[in-house]
Amino acid sequence: MCGIVGCILKNDDDVAPILFDCISKLEYRGYDSIGLATYSENKIHIKKDKGKIKEVDDKLNLTDMPGNFGIAHVRWATHGDPSKLNSHPHVDEKRNVAVVHNGIIENYLEIKENLISEGHVFKSDTDTEVIPHLIEKFMNEGFDLEHAVRKTIDIIHGAYAIAAISTDEPDKIVATRKDSPLIVGIGEEGYYLASDSPAILKYARDIIYPEKGEIVVLDKNGVVVHDEFDNVVNKEIETINWTPEMAEKEGYDHFMIKEINEQSTAVRNTLTQKENIQEIIDDIDDIQRICFVACGTSYHAALSGKYLIESLAGVPTDVILASEFKYSAKTLNDKTLVVFISQSGETADSLKALDVANETSKTLAIVNVAGSSMTRRAKYVIQTQAGPEIGVAATKTYVAQLTSIYLFAALLAKDDELLKELDKVPDYIDETLESKELIKQLSKRYNYTNDFFYLGRGFTYPTALEGALKLKEISYIHGEGYAAGELKHGPLALIDKRTPVVVIVPPGDAHRKTMSNLEEVKSRGANVLAIGSASDDALKTKASDVISINPEVNELIAPLVYIVPLQLVAYYITIEKEYDPDKPRNLAKCVTVE
Ligand code: M6R
Repeated sequence: MCGIVGCILKNDDDVAPILFDCISKLEYRGYDSIGLATYSENKIHIKKDKGKIKEVDDKLNLTDMPGNFGIAHVRWATHGDPSKLNSHPHVDEKRNVAVVHNGIIENYLEIKENLISEGHVFKSDTDTEVIPHLIEKFMNEGFDLEHAVRKTIDIIHGAYAIAAISTDEPDKIVATRKDSPLIVGIGEEGYYLASDSPAILKYARDIIYPEKGEIVVLDKNGVVVHDEFDNVVNKEIETINWTPEMAEKEGYDHFMIKEINEQSTAVRNTLTQKENIQEIIDDIDDIQRICFVACGTSYHAALSGKYLIESLAGVPTDVILASEFKYSAKTLNDKTLVVFISQSGETADSLKALDVANETSKTLAIVNVAGSSMTRRAKYVIQTQAGPEIGVAATKTYVAQLTSIYLFAALLAKDDELLKELDKVPDYIDETLESKELIKQLSKRYNYTNDFFYLGRGFTYPTALEGALKLKEISYIHGEGYAAGELKHGPLALIDKRTPVVVIVPPGDAHRKTMSNLEEVKSRGANVLAIGSASDDALKTKASDVISINPEVNELIAPLVYIVPLQLVAYYITIEKEYDPDKPRNLAKCVTVE
């Protein structure tokens, strides 16, 4: 979703280059338009337009704006087309107030009508534009900027992180949030606001996390936070251990391929969470049921959790899409552990479900972003150690999520054998990555089609779903993941010689039956791209193409390793089609609206 940034410098240097640098780091949150507002000489200066950051900067020279404080925004359109008028920052008609916003104001139409009847003039189709008008209205009634923002949030409903500046009260930025992320950075040279830490890592790693309804005021002397009753809140300052370099491409063509290559490190670092996970397990005794809740790729990790926990620990486990959770939450009780999985920790559907689950059950969040909303609302937290993930398509955070779930299942089942095997996974991933060039060449043969099927069975069924999701979100080719045995119950009708079928067939119990399913699609003319063990000679004679996995991993470990070639296939097909894998159309890294 959208990204917002704010900065006020302690000295009188122009802030625009820093704002531009910070907001550029949030392009993964939205790339429909970009805009900056700065203040100097009693005037708010605004540059904004639709388009990717580079295109708009080439046109408007965004770093050339006067003033030592300001706000910036990248947009993922919800209300109103991507256009210059709908781009943020938005202003009141006198241009005394400028606002950037991430989220959705649900009652904006009603507010807009009232404001229009009072004489306010609107220029955009956005929900956001009501905010500067409301702030202006309250400032005209005599409230200062901070209290005008407070009055405004009493009126608006929905999710928001807002930053505002005003000519009537210059030299400060006022910000607040509810259900959308916002962090405050304390740096050597100034004070910062951002939707997400990669924006400001270069400038500030000491972070304050404002809670819902708190009002943050930044000026050149520091940061003051007030609670909803106007009391000053002494916020804890937490230091982020991510470095600025971690959020750079470091010579790779795209973040996605960099992040695919970082997966062994993500697994290795996440394996250090073993003690924390054991402590959680010791604390949550008397659990009779586990219920995973997540969206997208995180949902696929959750599905692997069901297979693992049921087969290893024998605890009944459900998996529910976060957006469907409230329709099936009736059977939760205090003997249920509800496990939320999210790389961002800010996904609106998951956060809503977490609030529901907290009412009845113990909750555990498996999250990659430290300090995110989910880590603050769940009873227990497992922090995956993937480092910042910038590519919209989740890769290293997925294997880190899987690693946490494997650890959880192995510790719950006291399966020392599996724990030992997990230590070898980083090497298995690195060995698999050695086939990169081969997979790149192979992918060229598979970009001719509009439809792909991915088949897996048992432990690798979620892997098939995830492989298909990777393909469709970045290459725009329709990819459908299926349980291998299910294909003949309908979708087999779609198979012909134009339909490639990726079959995931590691050694293990499911191997024989998956091979039969492979034969079924092959005999309908499908081109079969199989992923299997290097020692599987039979597979080589049956499939059209084989990606051989050299480390001999069985089906239990396969989800952690076999996903790597599937990510690479999606990546290389996308490159071949000349699309940007880091910024797929219509998507954003963090989905902060329901
Ligand atoms: O931040 P989350 O893990 O909660 O995000 C959930 C999904 O939005 C996310 O996994 C999405 O499906 C990714 N783009 C997949 O690559």
